[in-house]
Amino acid sequence: MKSKLPLTKKLVVHAGQGASKISKHIYGHFAEHLGRCIYDGLWVGPESPIPNLRGVRTDIVEALRAIRIPVLRWPGGCFADEYHWQDGIGPRESRPGRVNTHWGGVIENNRFGTHEFLDLCDQLGCEPYICGNLGSGTVREMQEWVEYLTLGGKSPMAEMRRANGREAPWRVRFWGVGNENWGCGGNMRAEFYADQFRRYATYCRNYGGNKLYKIACGAADFDFRWTEVLMREAAKFMDGLSLHYYVLPGNWESKGSATQFGESEWFTVMKKTILLDGMIANHSDIMDRFDPEKRVGLIVDEWGAWYDVEPGTNPGFLYQQSTLRDAMLAGTALNIFNNHCDRVQMANLAQTVNVLQALILTEGEKMILTPTYHVFEMYKDHQDAVRLPFDLEESLYASGDESIPAVNVSASRAGVGTVLLTLCHLDPVQGLELECELRGMTPVSVTGRILTADAVHAGNTFEKPEAVQPAAFDGAKIRGGSIRISLPPKAVVSLEVM
Ligand code: AHR
Repeated sequence: MKSKLPLTKKLVVHAGQGASKISKHIYGHFAEHLGRCIYDGLWVGPESPIPNLRGVRTDIVEALRAIRIPVLRWPGGCFADEYHWQDGIGPRESRPGRVNTHWGGVIENNRFGTHEFLDLCDQLGCEPYICGNLGSGTVREMQEWVEYLTLGGKSPMAEMRRANGREAPWRVRFWGVGNENWGCGGNMRAEFYADQFRRYATYCRNYGGNKLYKIACGAADFDFRWTEVLMREAAKFMDGLSLHYYVLPGNWESKGSATQFGESEWFTVMKKTILLDGMIANHSDIMDRFDPEKRVGLIVDEWGAWYDVEPGTNPGFLYQQSTLRDAMLAGTALNIFNNHCDRVQMANLAQTVNVLQALILTEGEKMILTPTYHVFEMYKDHQDAVRLPFDLEESLYASGDESIPAVNVSASRAGVGTVLLTLCHLDPVQGLELECELRGMTPVSVTGRILTADAVHAGNTFEKPEAVQPAAFDGAKIRGGSIRISLPPKAVVSLEVM
């Protein structure tokens, strides 16, 4: 691949404007009972020689606290609609073993259940997001789980919780009423699910000061009809409607390798990631028709890259490596979510540890941070900041006879007036110059960081855990009141401007 001369494009950030807040929950994560995400990932058990606090791995907690993880979704995924929560309470050694039918047919021993999950969230300092079982559970079962968790007074479920060692109720706000009920969660039609949602949601009560934010199962990808039916039939009973979107370089039969790829697969992943922008806009437009005040949040509670599993690993465990390509995917998707923050109230990357586009991979006592992790770290100051509008002159990244926008951006202003600008340059070959005007602000200083690598498929391994990590970026300079940014190819850049 031969480098050409960089182009110069104009970026205007309206630093004096901005109305919508980028909810910190857009930086959320998802952990399912799948492969080695929970067991041998987040949870090693109190007897493990691996340093842990009450069974939860300490190094993982520290890493996730460092990116200020705001919310964690659990226990699934497809697993959620076959999970019976009472299997996961009481003395651990007497909890039943069940077959995890979705993920490898392994025995789920239920050592990690409700109390362990909420302890994990406490250790992480994040909010829990629990997905209840609508597909194969009863209304009563879901109602009783909410009661067990959140009722402070006297009731059979509250007494059961106390008998299991927890006196005070937990605060649980985010509540999913089923998962992918158009597929693994019961193969329902939208009309049928809408009625089921209304019924189950009715009995998910607000006890004491705990107010549930009820999230209905939403569409996958471009299924706009699902969104339309759910909004028409059930909008007033929900607070959020989910959306799932996975990026595969290939198709569901042959997804493609996580690490062995050329420019064509790189381009495809970038192109499919950018599709999120129009997809969210279309779902939002439909939601606007029924909810013009934008009360109901679009909750992108599963997103990320999905590749063929690493050779030699259990196909049901969805273990994949991660590269610079995934960092570009994450940076681009987060920019898109930020730019739609008037409707997108939460997003949860799939999945936190050892599964799909993981932030963290473990092998015994070893732990590595993936390039995707570093993007969340570089973007963390967007959390709860005010989104700034911008105008970006288009530049194209062409591959074969197709082309996509080469650069994507988001910008926000935090409380003290600092502007955070995050940019992804998707072209793997050609550099680009940006002349960035911050309208309504005179920049006095700019500091930056960059995540890039020599090769598109560079990643972190247990042998070389720091091959891809952020470095100081000196390609942004204040010149005549503007910022001149020299964007190298295939790079995620974050700039802090004061
Ligand atoms: O994240 C893996 C699986 O993908 C989830 O269990 C399911 O909801 C989705 O199909």
